[in-house]
Amino acid sequence: MTSVPSVELYIYPHHCDASGRVTETALVSLLQSARWEQLARGPGLDVFSRRGTWPVVRKAALEFYAPLRAGDRIRIETTLTQHGRTSFSLHQTARLDNGTLVADADLVFVCVNQQGEPTPVPPEITQFFGRRPSVRASETQHLAVRGIALALDIQGDGVPILFIHGFPLDRTVWRPVMAKLTGWKRIAPDLRGMGLSDLSDRYSMADYADDLAALLDALDTERAVICGLSMGGYIAFEMLRRHRERVRALILCNTRAEADDEEGRRKRDEMIQLLERDGPPALAELMIPKLLAPLSLTAMPQVVEHLRAMITGSPAAGLAGALRAMRDRPDSTPLLGEIGVPTLVIAGRDDQLIPPAASKNMAEAIPGAQFTLIPDAGHLVPLEQPVATSRVIAEFLEAVR
Ligand code: MLT
Repeated sequence: MTSVPSVELYIYPHHCDASGRVTETALVSLLQSARWEQLARGPGLDVFSRRGTWPVVRKAALEFYAPLRAGDRIRIETTLTQHGRTSFSLHQTARLDNGTLVADADLVFVCVNQQGEPTPVPPEITQFFGRRPSVRASETQHLAVRGIALALDIQGDGVPILFIHGFPLDRTVWRPVMAKLTGWKRIAPDLRGMGLSDLSDRYSMADYADDLAALLDALDTERAVICGLSMGGYIAFEMLRRHRERVRALILCNTRAEADDEEGRRKRDEMIQLLERDGPPALAELMIPKLLAPLSLTAMPQVVEHLRAMITGSPAAGLAGALRAMRDRPDSTPLLGEIGVPTLVIAGRDDQLIPPAASKNMAEAIPGAQFTLIPDAGHLVPLEQPVATSRVIAEFLEAVR
């Protein structure tokens, strides 16, 4: 995970739309210019053609954190986050002169020859990025726990917060919130079988919870604030059942305590069949309109693309494993009265999967729990409203620090 000298670029009016803000297309092209500028200063613009290969973007997730306008000057930093034989991943950040993070992007490239066949990544690329350790955010590491490698992002120091993603997502769903929670040690793994973590032949809430406890062991972390989104909340309940001593406080986003009813279990089986027949893209088509608030669907194309990239970036077998684990999960309502640690419940006002009223009822059943309803958000509050979500989490964390 290493970066190269940053590039500075100016924002011109032609990068902006009628409202004076930089468009997503312009940002994509600014980030691309920065990458080629960096190559020109390093191994040369012809580094790929010299080797008879070309980098093709296979996956891209772009996130805006603040508007950019004509006249702004941005510093773009590019980091190699992962490389394999024929593919590599870059993380790019755009910051204003005062250091404010305004946008970032995660890109996965595959090197192909003229026939479109995968070819090795030119060695100059990995040499260029070198082996220097980076202090940048969003570094993806791999840690071996319980016989499998889990991918995880770790940022910052301080009281640890373990972020658990939902279904069918990966650790990057937390990135917009993690970027804002400076002053805390933020840990976000991909669950087994999802994102960049290894597949397994076993999936259950107990396995996920045991993986996370083993991950905390591997990180020398005794206790953490556990923050779970939807399925991540089901896993947080399982952590309370199996590893209560590791839970310092609890944040439950867009989640519920009840187990699936018969109809719910039948739908899980249908989704497993869909995945096995048509793969993750079909799941993405089915789920995206349900996961996001109608407003996010139309007004936040970068969120829709990030979500699609997460869903299609996980293997069908891992997603099917998660569906089985959710289908068979136990009822956690008996736990609610005895959670015994500070708890924050967050709901999205437009959540179509878990009605906000159900989240409120859950919060009322947890002694002393705080409840917050986030407007203009559906089932994925950290992705759809990262500013409001991180503010609520930060206030809660200050109180439990
Ligand atoms: C999630 O977001 O994790 C899932 O929607 C939870 C579920 O399907 O029960």
